[in-house]
Amino acid sequence: MGQGGSFGGAVGSFRSVFFFALFFATAPAFAESPKITISCGSNGLEFEICKSSVNEWSQKTGNPVEIITTPNDSNERLSLYQQILGAKSSDIDVLQIDVVWTGILADHLLDLSPLVSKEILKEHFPATIRNNTIKDHLVAMPWFIDAGVMYYRKDLLDKYKQTVPATWADLATVSKKIQAAEHATSNPVGNKDLWGYVFEGRAYEGLTCNALEWIASFDGGAVIDEKGHVSVNNPNSAKALSLISSFIGDIAPQGVLNYSEEEARGVFQSGNAVFMRNWPYAWALLNAPDSKVKDKVGIAVLPSGAPGEKSAATLGGWSLAVSKYTKNQVAAADLVKYLTSRPVQLQRLLKGSFNPTIASLYEDKKVLAQVPQLKLFKKAFSSAVARPSKLTGFKYNRVSSEFWNSVHGILETKESPERPLVQLEATLNRISDNGKW
Ligand code: GLC
Repeated sequence: MGQGGSFGGAVGSFRSVFFFALFFATAPAFAESPKITISCGSNGLEFEICKSSVNEWSQKTGNPVEIITTPNDSNERLSLYQQILGAKSSDIDVLQIDVVWTGILADHLLDLSPLVSKEILKEHFPATIRNNTIKDHLVAMPWFIDAGVMYYRKDLLDKYKQTVPATWADLATVSKKIQAAEHATSNPVGNKDLWGYVFEGRAYEGLTCNALEWIASFDGGAVIDEKGHVSVNNPNSAKALSLISSFIGDIAPQGVLNYSEEEARGVFQSGNAVFMRNWPYAWALLNAPDSKVKDKVGIAVLPSGAPGEKSAATLGGWSLAVSKYTKNQVAAADLVKYLTSRPVQLQRLLKGSFNPTIASLYEDKKVLAQVPQLKLFKKAFSSAVARPSKLTGFKYNRVSSEFWNSVHGILETKESPERPLVQLEATLNRISDNGKW
């Protein structure tokens, strides 16, 4: 087998580990219409909702669609995409891509601008279109926006007469009070398994998002400043990281160091945490009929570093892109247009709390009446902190992995952050070629 074949083999072995393929089927027109493959995420309800919208498009157009699930951790999904696209394989026509990957994947993605009208583009928040435009090419259509938020147990705060914490230090104080009261042997109805705070602490992209929030909320910047200088090594970053590392084993379980979004949600949703940091998608699941915490949860912006300082939420979200190597450009782009359209974005909001990229949905009174938490989400998005992906372009994943590994080490060992931050600064400077990204 030639080079192409052996590369295909490597991709094939990935497929057997991660992919489940679904075929939708049977309209007679399917015989003539090309089959489209799309990768959808599978956090919470993501896969189910994607499947139902894809099915609708498939029924309308007569194109069969194969949905491919990919690893949940965003950076693992990126490695898979890089293998597939690097091999110029047409295995996936439509890719769900993270907001921080446009610079990394741009060379492999189709320019959608000739296929999407100006009117449609205008419906989306301009920042999302800007993020997806690389060298004048529209490399993806925005699908949903994310920003980190804090979920809390209203019932427990009421029971112990506590208010929503404004700072991280308050969060620790309130957590300790409630944990101690619920664990006390004199409290036979207390919950001995209750923790104060859960978040995404595994060494992966999710930890980058959490750590950026801690550091930015202490006024410690965003790892790299607007001019491209590595700024992470500063006293405020150190303060933030040392406070959060003191949480581990105290108000946050040791296991949090291996949690991604779904593990954190699992603990919170089974009633075993007072506070959780997560993305908006968790809201729909926390309030589902089978949830142990249904109607007991409130949402707030994340705490700040000091009283009166700003809190910070990391900006996230996903878009849909068409692979340059697709054999079905027009059908693939049509599927992208359908899935990112207003009606589908509204459905996804109502069913799964996926927050639209279409600005008018946030002003629509009917929508706001059905989804009152949308106001808070919009507030979180508008002040959200971006990861340094635009500046670092195709180097972003290296930057992020150095950052999350360094933070993970600090949380795990509880080592004072000063030395690791000096090392991280040196490594990032090396990657950047001293400020030149
Ligand atoms: C969410 C965000 C995405 C981020 C990921 C990290 O899916 O939308 O931008 O990279 O979480 O786990």
